[in-house]
Amino acid sequence: MPRLSVNVDHIATLRQARRGMEPDPVAAAVLADLAGAEGIIVHLREDRRHIQDRDLRLLRQTVQTKLNLEMAATDEMQRIALEVKPEITTLVPEKREELTTEGGLEVASRIAFLTDYIGRLKQGHISVSLFVDPDDQQIAASKKAGADWVEVHTGTYANARTDRDRAREFDKIVEAAKLAASLGLRVGAGHGLNYVNVKPIARIPEVEELNIGHSIISRASLVGLERAVREMIALIGTK
Ligand code: PXP
Repeated sequence: MPRLSVNVDHIATLRQARRGMEPDPVAAAVLADLAGAEGIIVHLREDRRHIQDRDLRLLRQTVQTKLNLEMAATDEMQRIALEVKPEITTLVPEKREELTTEGGLEVASRIAFLTDYIGRLKQGHISVSLFVDPDDQQIAASKKAGADWVEVHTGTYANARTDRDRAREFDKIVEAAKLAASLGLRVGAGHGLNYVNVKPIARIPEVEELNIGHSIISRASLVGLERAVREMIALIGTK
């Protein structure tokens, strides 16, 4: 069974809506940890739209399992990673205008650049994962560039509208996971996984880890709402 790592970016999204102190992604990470998550993921974006530098530094001091820093392959992020030292960094493509990470990283045409970039992180004793589409070329290139892990992008599978499309995307993920493992890469998967579509992915034998954010944070906001309302009513003392 794969391990679960929880992405807490959306707790920070909610906090940034008021630019206040709550909810705190650091507190969310502690709760995810207590619930049995085996890793915490945050994406420090260039525009700092959700996770802030302060969050990353505090998470480094509090996450006891595995801190996975998702980031674009820029000089700024490399410097921050080498200072903060997460156990692992996941390199993702990043566009300012996107709502969330849209596609996998283009590795095949940037092997020289990424080999150097990954090498520096590994010299700092940080493992490196590349977030890639389920595509043979990108997986083989990830191995060549020196990655330790690939995280197979499950977004197209998750967004498929018909059973046929979903089955086709699922097969691609299975093949990508097999190829990656056969090359000696460790395999994670994530993006768009939720309570409806996660099971088949969780049963792919080569997949060691699932990285899930939006669906867990969304569900938490609903399953926690009733209790939150009851607590406020009790405080007001009207009932
Ligand atoms: N993996 C990567 C590389 C991502 O960019 C994201 C989104 O931040 C996730 C996993 C989690 O995706 P979701 O929030 O859809 O579960």
